[in-house]
Amino acid sequence: MSFTSPAESYDSFMGRYTRTLAPVLADAAGVAEGMRVLDVGCGPGGLTGVLAERVGEVNVAAIDPAPQFVSACARRYPDADVRVGVAERLPWPDGGFDAALSCLVIGFMDDADRGLREMSRVTRPGGVVAACMWDLTEGGMTMLATFWEAVRELDPTVVGERMSVGVSRGDIAARMESAGLTDIVDGELSAHADYAGFDDFWEPFTFAVGPAGSYLASLPADRREQLREICLPKLPDGPFTLPARAWYARGIVTPTAP
Ligand SMILES: C[S@@+](CC[C@H](N)C(=O)[O-])C[C@H]1O[C@@H](n2cnc3c(N)ncnc32)[C@H](O)[C@@H]1O
Repeated sequence: MSFTSPAESYDSFMGRYTRTLAPVLADAAGVAEGMRVLDVGCGPGGLTGVLAERVGEVNVAAIDPAPQFVSACARRYPDADVRVGVAERLPWPDGGFDAALSCLVIGFMDDADRGLREMSRVTRPGGVVAACMWDLTEGGMTMLATFWEAVRELDPTVVGERMSVGVSRGDIAARMESAGLTDIVDGELSAHADYAGFDDFWEPFTFAVGPAGSYLASLPADRREQLREICLPKLPDGPFTLPARAWYARGIVTPTAP
């Protein structure tokens, strides 16, 4: 899945959740002063900024295949090492980071297992690899659950995002184990976003960001309007806050055998 929307569209659709998700992922990974860290799939830089606050911009590297996100991230954090590229082929040498993190990305990688192995390779022995993805199988990501539930009321055959890597409980941890990480800890992270009202919720879906936005953009206008009408009564009147749960796991890189 490629992300072609402008950084500002991403910010208003999903970046508003990264604001509360990124700090708890950084906590779970134990990111602290003195570390050199990598943000894989940085997007416009929601997690990059949190990492920069903790370890200093010069100690942060970030990578994403979407050039417009990389430009935005580099503009926001000019002293960080921000590059265009993919998790499956990281352009850094072995063991150069104390931690490699990935926030809401492994479900979008072409080969998530290879991505995790690459994150392990560039992290020093004893360092941490951590990743999270929204809960899209148990309804914990309210915004996306509301949307896909409405979609299935119109067309029950739509799969949506529930088959993506990392979106079910325990999947990231299982993949970390297969990637050779040890001392794996997994659990859930809580985030949220505030909305001024229904229009503030709906409009960002029309920006064609990610699978939900792309799906909406693929529909004819009357179908899009039907979906909007189905979503409307599912949400409160006036301002509201939506909770969002992500699954996460973290593991430790072991020294490779000589
Ligand atoms: C949902 S966004 C998450 C962005 C950011 N980490 C955040 O939390 O706001 C998913 C990101 O993964 C990136 N992505 C897609 N495939 C990727 C790959 N193979 N390797 C690294 N990043 C990838 C997309 O370009 C997009 O920026």
